[in-house]
Amino acid sequence: MTISVTPTKGACGAFIDGLDLRQPLSPDTVDAIRQAWLQHHVVVFRDQQIDDDDLERFSRYFGDFAGDPYIAPMAGRENVIELRRAADETTPIFADAWHTDWSFGATPPAATVLHGITIPPHGGNTDFINQHEVLAQMPAELRQRLQGKMARHSARLAYAPDGMYGQQDKDRGRGFTILTDESAYNEQLHPLIRQHPETGEEAIFGCFGYIVGIADVSAEEEQQLLTDLYQWQTREEFQYHHQWQPGMLVMWDNRSVLHKANGGYEGYERVLHRTVIA
Ligand SMILES: [Fe+2]
Repeated sequence: MTISVTPTKGACGAFIDGLDLRQPLSPDTVDAIRQAWLQHHVVVFRDQQIDDDDLERFSRYFGDFAGDPYIAPMAGRENVIELRRAADETTPIFADAWHTDWSFGATPPAATVLHGITIPPHGGNTDFINQHEVLAQMPAELRQRLQGKMARHSARLAYAPDGMYGQQDKDRGRGFTILTDESAYNEQLHPLIRQHPETGEEAIFGCFGYIVGIADVSAEEEQQLLTDLYQWQTREEFQYHHQWQPGMLVMWDNRSVLHKANGGYEGYERVLHRTVIA
């Protein structure tokens, strides 16, 4: 099967056309997708009218399911999360801060796969930032300050009982179940500058939010570094703004990009199904 790979106009991402993901994929096709994904960091398949069996089969070509520490799977599908937001829901938009999925874990997931099922007519973009480019174009002075430093990652601001999605979120009527847990207070160190395990390319890994501090520096230096890094690594020129259409399937590389959700679709239902790959 011939596939075409068309880069987006943003700083990362490519559309892959010519495939029907309801069908099993040959090893050669899977390899071509993996190469495009490693090169572009975000791949988008348009017009895929797939069900959850297809979503799971597609995901498994790229690795094992990673399990999800703080979001309950949908009924009868232990590896699929349904991100559902009702038209009249008033909860804060989920995940509308820059992050890379579960960077607070010891072995963060490689990929996240999202399939758009019910997509509002406007709003709800998913934004990405290419963290290889962020590092490649970083001023030498900032890079020098980050070099060799270890970041302290934690889920506590989001998923601890007193976090954003903790107790205060319980009675808001969110369209899926967030699992608050004391384990969210744990910390995990990761290098700020990290080599991609498959391509060897260096990137900045993580972002303020799940990054709660930097090891072995003074409080003052820590604060300044976190601020300076955040300002640089979220600049517009490194971004790709993904606009959803119903049936789109998107797979991104958590080792290469930051991502964030956006609102702007009040009054419309939005449903996406998600898997995460170890
Ligand atoms: Fe996320």
